[in-house]
This record gives sequence, structure tokens and C-alpha cells, in this order.
Amino acid sequence: MSEALVQASYIIAALLFIFSLAGLSRHETSRAGNTFGVVGMALALVATIAYAVRFSHGPGFALIVAAMLVGGSIGVNRAIKVEMTGMPQLVAMLHSFVGLAAVLVGYNAWLESPALTGADARIHSVEVFLGVFIGAVTLTGSIIAYLKLSGRIPSKPLMLPGRHWMNLAALVVSAGLLGWFVASDGAAPIVLMTVIALVFGWHLVASIGGGDMPVVVSMLNSYSGWAAAAAGFTLGNDLLIVTGALVGSSGAYLSYVMCTAMNRSFVSVIAGGFGQEISLSAGEDYGDPRETNAADVADLLREASSVVITPGYGMAVAQAQYPVADLTSRLRERGITVRFGIHPVAGRLPGHMNVLLAEAKVPYDIVLEMDEINDDLPTTDVVLVIGANDTVNPSAEDDPGSPIAGMPVLEVWKAKDVIVFKRSMAAGYAGVQNPLFFKDNTQMLFGDAKDRVLDIVKAL
Ligand code: TAP
Repeated sequence: MSEALVQASYIIAALLFIFSLAGLSRHETSRAGNTFGVVGMALALVATIAYAVRFSHGPGFALIVAAMLVGGSIGVNRAIKVEMTGMPQLVAMLHSFVGLAAVLVGYNAWLESPALTGADARIHSVEVFLGVFIGAVTLTGSIIAYLKLSGRIPSKPLMLPGRHWMNLAALVVSAGLLGWFVASDGAAPIVLMTVIALVFGWHLVASIGGGDMPVVVSMLNSYSGWAAAAAGFTLGNDLLIVTGALVGSSGAYLSYVMCTAMNRSFVSVIAGGFGQEISLSAGEDYGDPRETNAADVADLLREASSVVITPGYGMAVAQAQYPVADLTSRLRERGITVRFGIHPVAGRLPGHMNVLLAEAKVPYDIVLEMDEINDDLPTTDVVLVIGANDTVNPSAEDDPGSPIAGMPVLEVWKAKDVIVFKRSMAAGYAGVQNPLFFKDNTQMLFGDAKDRVLDIVKAL
């Protein structure tokens, strides 16, 4: 394949990636968006491999095929096995690979050091240094995100004393090391910086609380894009630069949109919770919750004229969306108004609940966003909270010291009656107690959400 053909394929692939992002921004066009992305990636791979084979010296093709076979089979295996609830940690793990790749590409480019002089040599050093820095931050940040999202370490924020000063010092020292590296091209500054960047990435994500993890995942997505773009500069690969910039900027925009939806300061989140003061006290004693059973809930629903269902992560775990859809249609047949209230970060993925409900064929027009339903909750007879916890926690509004303080929530406690479906009194993802469970108009229906909803359907 000639160089011109490779460049032409790269331009077409880059355009397909842009069409892909545009397509993915709306339900109706998302399938086409996916197809554009797949075709673009296939074209990019073929062009890159063909180019490498033609211009490489030595066993280039065999190495690429061997690496792709090993990497590809691990990837296919993971993708087939992953549960939908496990997607965020898989994505976080994949981001860590991008970070690692950027670090390795940077070191390789430095060790191979092309014979450059003057300004060209300095630009090359800056590219290498920044690529390694962003890659190392992405690597450890993503590993911590993976560990938190998969529940292997607690999601509580790590609150080291003087943590913001430590972050600032890491940045200042790294800037100094950049100057040293550009002047000397020596090993000491780049190795020192790598160690600092690895610790910095770990600390940045460790100090962010559970409730803010959705923003962290999209932020790491953005970092992985910038790391890839930096590797593209180092390798002189235009497609990697364009693709990295697309991922970097769309990830940054998604983080910004999520911060706005969750009433968080973008700068505060990317700076590891800067300006947020969180009290991690054990919490107060709210007394005992009231427990109910499926038959009583069925009676309550029979009497209701309006019902709102607010699903959360527990509905996904229990795979309760099918019985929930069944319950919905039965209630609607009785003339009861049933609607769904979806919090922007319910579950573990953007749009998680919408996908599950669409899968169970719940009509789109009764699935409303949090902002669309909140005003109607005070006039609602019964709210069924199915496996949701943080997204219906009143302390987000009442307790300024709470890790989720300021996050907009579904104000379910304003309804006449609230039924909470969960298995125990355990906390939600953010690890904070939920005073909703102890309110006078709340009753707890303990057990697996799917079993309990089936019991109610049977009782009806
Ligand atoms: P969570 O606060 O995670 O609470 C889920 C609840 O479901 C738990 O309290 C759990 O209680 C219950 N549950 C689990 N399995 C169940 C089952 N089989 N049957 C019945 N109940 C079950 O849920 P949420 O309200 O959806 O909030 C989402 C949280 O995840 C937020 O903190 C959000 O910031 C975070 N997060 C979101 C995303 C995105 S993008 N959506 C990404 C990462 C993190 P029991 O154990 O007692 O049953």
C-alpha cells in the first residue's frame, strides 16, 4: 500500500469516526453511528497493518498478527462474558491499557531518539514527556476507577490532609522536570516524572467519592483520548492524533454535561474533589424502618390513581425489568397512570435504565427524565423505588456534609406512599446512609427485586 493510499484511508476513517459520534448522539441514528465506527476502525486497522508490513524491517507482520491474535482473543472473551452491570469497570480497565500504551510509546520514542537537533529535538522531548505524563496518570487513575467500580476497594473518597497541595506540588515539580528533560534529554527527569504521574493519577481518582464516579469514568475516557493523541504526535501518525482528539474532546464534553446534570463543578472533579468538604462520619441513628409485604403493596397499588417507578442499579442486578414491565401494563389496564422517573446516573452507565426498560418494551412516552417527573411527585399516590438508593437520597438536599451533597435527586419522599425494594439496609454505591428508608411514608419491601415484583403481580 502506498503512503498516499494509507493517508487517504486515514482521512476516510477519521470522517467515519466523526459520523459515528454524530450518529451516537440520538436514539434513532445510534445503530448507523455504531456501523460507521466499526467500518472506520476496520479501515484504519487494515491501512495501518498494510503500511507497517510494507515499510517495516524484520518480522513486522508476524509480530503484529501475533499481538492481534493474543489481544483480540482476550478482548472478545471479555466482551462476551461481561454483564451489562460490569461495563463501567471493563471500560475503566480498557482506559488503563491506553494509558500504558502511551507510556510505552513515549519511552520507546525517547530510547530510539531520532537524530534531531535544535527546535525539532526540543519539540520531540516535549511530546515524549507529555505523552508519558498523560499516559501514566490515565494508567493508575483507571486502575483505581476499575477497583472502585468493581467493588474491590471501597468507593469512599480518600481524604489525605493537604491533598490539594500535594496535587499542586506534583504538577509544579513535573513542570520543572519537563524543563530539565528538554535541556538534558536525560533519564532522571523522565523516570522521576513517571513515578510522580503514577502516584498523581492514583491520588486524583482515589480522592473522588462514589457518587462522582460516573464523571470520573468519562474524564478518564477523555484522558485516554489525549494520551492516544500524544502518542500520535510521537509516532507521527495523523489518524491517532485525530482519533485521540475526538475521544479527548468528546469525553471532556460528556464530563462537563454530567457535572452540570449532577450540580458538580467540573474543575472541582478533575482536580480530585477540589473545594469539596466531605464529612465521613458514621452517620446518625434514624430508628427502625417500616417493613411491608407484597400483598399489602398490591392493595396499595389497587387503590392508587397515579404510580411512579424509579428504578436503579438493583433493578439491573435482579434483571427485574421484565416483571416491572408486566406490572406496569397490568396497572395501566386498570386505568392507573404509571410513569417512570429516570435519574441521569441511575445504574452504572449513562442511559442504563433506559436501555433495560426499552429491552422490556416499556413504552418510551411514559419514561421521563428526573427533571420532567420531580414536580409531579408531590401529587403521586405511590412511588415504587426499585433497586435505587443514592439517586433517591434526601441527604443530597438536606446534608451539606454528605458526599452526595448538591447532587439533584428524585424527590420521591414527597409522594403519598413510597415502597423501597431492596435486599437489606445496605448503603448504595456512594456508601452513605439513606434517611428516605426511615421516613413515615416509606415502607421497605425486602428481597430480590425481581421476586418481589413477581409476587406483587401474582397478588394483583
Ligand atoms: P445504588 O445507589 O447503587 O443502589 C442500588 C441499590 O440496589 C442498593 O442499595 C442495593 O441494596 C439494591 N440492590 C442490589 N441488588 C438488588 C437486587 N437483586 N434486588 C433488589 N435490590 C438490589 O443505585 P442508584 O440509585 O441507581 O445509584 C447509582 C449510583 O451509582 C450513584 O451513586 C452513581 O453516582 C453511581 N454510578 C453511576 C454510574 C452511571 S454513569 N450511571 C457509573 C458509576 C457509578 P441491597 O444490597 O440492600 O439490595
